[in-house]
Amino acid sequence: MQNVPITIAHGDGIGPEIMRATLRVLEAAGARIAPETIEIGEAVYARGQSSGIEATSWESLRRTKVFLKAPITTPQGGGFKSLNVTVRKTLGLYANVRPSVSYDPYVATKHPGVDVVIVRENEEDLYAGIEHRQSDEVYQCLKLVSRPGCEKIVRYAFEYARANGRKRVTCMTKDNIMKLTDGLFHQVFNEIAKEYPDIASDHMIIDIGAARLATRPETFDVIVTLNLYGDIISDIVAEVTGSVGLGGSANIGEHCAMFEAVHGSAPDIAGRGIANPSGLLLAAVMMLVHIGQGEVAERIHNAWLATLEDGVHTGDIYHEKVSELQVGTDAFAQAVIDRLGKKPSRFTPVAYAGGSPIAVAGRVSTLHPARKELTGVDVFLHWRGRPELLGPQLAALDGDGLALTMVTNRGVKVYPGGLPETFCTDHWRCRFQAPAGSTVTLMQLLSLLMRVGNAGFDFVKTENLYTFDGQSGFSLGQGQ
Ligand code: NAI
Ligand code: MG
Repeated sequence: MQNVPITIAHGDGIGPEIMRATLRVLEAAGARIAPETIEIGEAVYARGQSSGIEATSWESLRRTKVFLKAPITTPQGGGFKSLNVTVRKTLGLYANVRPSVSYDPYVATKHPGVDVVIVRENEEDLYAGIEHRQSDEVYQCLKLVSRPGCEKIVRYAFEYARANGRKRVTCMTKDNIMKLTDGLFHQVFNEIAKEYPDIASDHMIIDIGAARLATRPETFDVIVTLNLYGDIISDIVAEVTGSVGLGGSANIGEHCAMFEAVHGSAPDIAGRGIANPSGLLLAAVMMLVHIGQGEVAERIHNAWLATLEDGVHTGDIYHEKVSELQVGTDAFAQAVIDRLGKKPSRFTPVAYAGGSPIAVAGRVSTLHPARKELTGVDVFLHWRGRPELLGPQLAALDGDGLALTMVTNRGVKVYPGGLPETFCTDHWRCRFQAPAGSTVTLMQLLSLLMRVGNAGFDFVKTENLYTFDGQSGFSLGQGQ
C-alpha cells in the first residue's frame, strides 16, 4: 500500500519536541504516511507575514488534505491574525472534535469514568467575528447561524457516534432565549436525530448542561453544540477529567482535516525535553483513523494506554502514589514504542480496526426558496433621551403603509407603555410595520428612512422584517 502524504508543522515552544516524539511512534508502529513539512507560527510572523503562514504552505495543505499540527505561539497584540482560526475557516473545517477521557486511577481526577466527545461547530455563531460599534455606548457582535451549517455539524455528530460505537448524542443550545438562531440548531438536531434511530438523542439548555458536565461528566456520551458553547464546555470537560495535557483534537471539513493537541506551545517548559507528547500523539491516532489506518491507530492507542497503566509518566501527570517512573518526552515515546502490540489490562482497549473514517461528506438538504414577504423594518437609532419623547416623534413619521409599532432598548419594549424603571442606553430599535396581512416594498422602506433622516435622527442600521411562507422571520420585543 502507498504511503499517504500528510502535511506536518513542528510549531513553536514544545512543538518540535512533541512532534519528533510523535513521529517516532508513528514510524515504529508502521504508519503508512509520507510527511511533508511546512513552517508556521513564530518564524513566519517574524518575517512580517501577519497570518503566520506562507502562501506556499496552502498548496501542500490543499494537496494532502491532512494536517498534523504542533502547537504554535500566537504573538500578543494587534496586527497578528490567529493562525488556528485562519486555517480552520480557510479550509472549511466545520467540526471540532474533542474527546475527553479520565484515566483514573493513573491520572488524578475528581471524576472517574468520563468518556465524552464534544463536537463543536467551528465556523459560525459569534465567531464570524462581525462586530460593530454603533453609538457612544453600544457595541454589537453578529451571531450568524445557517441551516447548512447546522445540518453539517449535527449530521457529523451522529455519524461520529455511529462510527465509534457511541450510544447517545446530546444537543446543547440556549433556544429558550435565542429562538431563531439556537432554535434552528435545535430544530435541525431533532430532524436529523430521526435519521439515526439506533442512537439515543436528547437536548439540554446549555447552562444546566454545562453545570451537569462539571458535576456529572460521566453521564454524557457525545455532545453537539454551537461554536461559543462548545469552546467553553470543551475546556470544562478537559479540566474536570484532569487531562488537559493528554487531549488530542480533530478539525474536520469536507475537503481537509487538521489534527492537533488541545494544549498550547508551553513556552515555560520548551527545550527541556520534559513535555508530554500524549496530546499530539492522540491527535495523530485520530488522523490515522481518518486516513483509513485504523489498525495502526489502535496499536498506538493501546500501547499508550498500557504505558499510562504501567506508571511511566511525564512530569505533568507524575504522582508518587500511582507513578512508577518519571520520564521525559523521548523516553515516554520509547516506552510507548516498547509496548506496541500490547493491550492495556485495566483500561478498556480501543478498537479502530474497521478503520471507519470519522469524516463524512457535509451533506445538506436542498431548500426550496420560501415565499419571502417584506412586512416592515427595524430602524436602529443612536439617540439620547427618554423613550416617551422619542416615541411620539417617530410616530409622527408614520405613513406610506408603515407605522411605528414599538421602540425597544436593548431588546425590551419601552414605547408605547414602557416603565420608568427600565434602564435605557443611546441605542434604540424602532419597529415600523405594515398593517397585518399587508406587505411593503423596499422603496417604501427607503422613503421611511428619508423621513427619519430628514427629521434629524441618526440611524445606524436597519433590519428588514420578513415573513417566510407566512411565518415570522423575526423575534418579538421583550414585553411586546
Ligand atoms: P499552554 O497549553 O501552552 O500551557 C499551559 C500550561 O500547561 C503550562 O504550564 C504548560 O507548561 C503546561 N503544558 C501544556 N502542554 C503541556 C505538555 N504537553 N506537557 C507538559 N505540560 C504542558 O497554554 P498557554 O501557556 O496559555 O499558551 C502558550 C502559547 O500557546 C500561547 O502563545 C498560546 O497562544 C498558544 N496556544 C496555541 C494553541 C495551538 O497552537 N493550538 C492552543 C492554545 C494555546
Ligand atoms: Mg478555547
